[in-house]
Amino acid sequence: FLCLALNVLGLQLSQQQQPLLQVQDESRPYDGHKVLRVKAHGKARHQIANTLANVAGVVSVLAVGSNHVDIHVDSFFASFLPSHVVVDNVQHVVDAEMERLEAAQHSFSKMSDDEKYAPENWFSDYHRYDDIVAWYKQLAEKHPDLVTFIPSIGKSALNKDIIAIKVSSNVNKDTKSQFWYHTGDHAREWVGPSTVQYFVHSVLQDHATNPALLDNAELIIVPLMNVDGYEYSWAGNRLWRKNRRVVKRDFFGSVGVDLNRNWPAHWGEGGSSNQPFSDVYMGPAAGSEPEVKALINFFMNDNHTRLIGAIDLHAFSQLVLRPYGWTEDPAPDEKLLKKAGDDIRDTIKKVSGKKYVSEREIDLYAASGTASDWFYDDDVQEWLPDRRLYAYTIELRPSADEANGAQGFILPPAQIIPTGQEIYEALKGYMAFALKNP
Ligand code: ARG
Ligand code: ZN
Repeated sequence: FLCLALNVLGLQLSQQQQPLLQVQDESRPYDGHKVLRVKAHGKARHQIANTLANVAGVVSVLAVGSNHVDIHVDSFFASFLPSHVVVDNVQHVVDAEMERLEAAQHSFSKMSDDEKYAPENWFSDYHRYDDIVAWYKQLAEKHPDLVTFIPSIGKSALNKDIIAIKVSSNVNKDTKSQFWYHTGDHAREWVGPSTVQYFVHSVLQDHATNPALLDNAELIIVPLMNVDGYEYSWAGNRLWRKNRRVVKRDFFGSVGVDLNRNWPAHWGEGGSSNQPFSDVYMGPAAGSEPEVKALINFFMNDNHTRLIGAIDLHAFSQLVLRPYGWTEDPAPDEKLLKKAGDDIRDTIKKVSGKKYVSEREIDLYAASGTASDWFYDDDVQEWLPDRRLYAYTIELRPSADEANGAQGFILPPAQIIPTGQEIYEALKGYMAFALKNP
């Protein structure tokens, strides 16, 4: 009863305050939108996903399940397609989540820094860009011997700093192998950034008793790539995917480029769109977007020649995807890449019971201009010494079968820690494997 009373009180307090969220956009962009489930099996699911991705009225191909494809469509599209409706009104789902976050953000903002950063508070919910930057900064202050905070590797389209951190011990400083992690390419995939935070937190916590990892490897991390899109997904449009750059004024007033279609790696060679309104818009040129440029510059100019692994974290569908994404040709070391990918899947299963699927990116669907393919691009490979590179795209929780349509991106905050735990254990094993099989 006390909890209930406090809740009611909290709600009344928050009603008198200025709203923190959803202030930029007064419209309700998802009113009347539906999530449709198309029943399909085997290869047909991927054909359907690929075809529908470029159809006007299809907002997003959400997920490919084992016996279905979920598609988020606008109200016009919904009106003439007889399918099974999974979410009757997407806006209602978004509204409920924003109401929850509004209250949570008000109580979070009243905490002292010490309270905010206590793990049980920090990992109990998702956080805004400013709070994430501050969190990494205090982490570097707490662990000056292990964490380097890089306040800016470049600016976003709307002039916000993209931060990076490096995590490493002083042992073998200039000879140890490097692993690259980045996340938050897609704005609405909030569990990506939260999982990387949990991963870093766990690495630091375990270092005291098990220094092997940081003595043998340096972690290079871009914890939130698409900062403008991410902020827009808090204070504008919860289901936003792209960045927020206005490339050219088209009839629809379209904004944004898909940052995982813009890398200079077989850019525009399938699985992306040249139409600015598309959710998989590849941009006007390869590497045109400031966020992609920032990551490339940081990577190429900051002595990352000892790289043996690179992982890009997304959501959702529970997949461990290995290259290539743009061609059926096998990537270098396909056998070892498959082994390491399957091991990630198996570790997760052991830790949490969750089933991830390990497969090639191209077998999910074709995409070009993606980050994980970029690391195999000739320019990058030429520049890296002759070592094996273990590159992956991981799609986090929930699974396509468990996700209730659009809610897949709105993962309950109670899942932040379990997702973090399964990925931390899996990545520890992955790094040990890559170190042992150079
Ligand atoms: N969902 C991610 C995206 O669309 C993963 C892409 C993985 N690559 C692929 N070729 N399927 O960006
Ligand atoms: Zn994504």
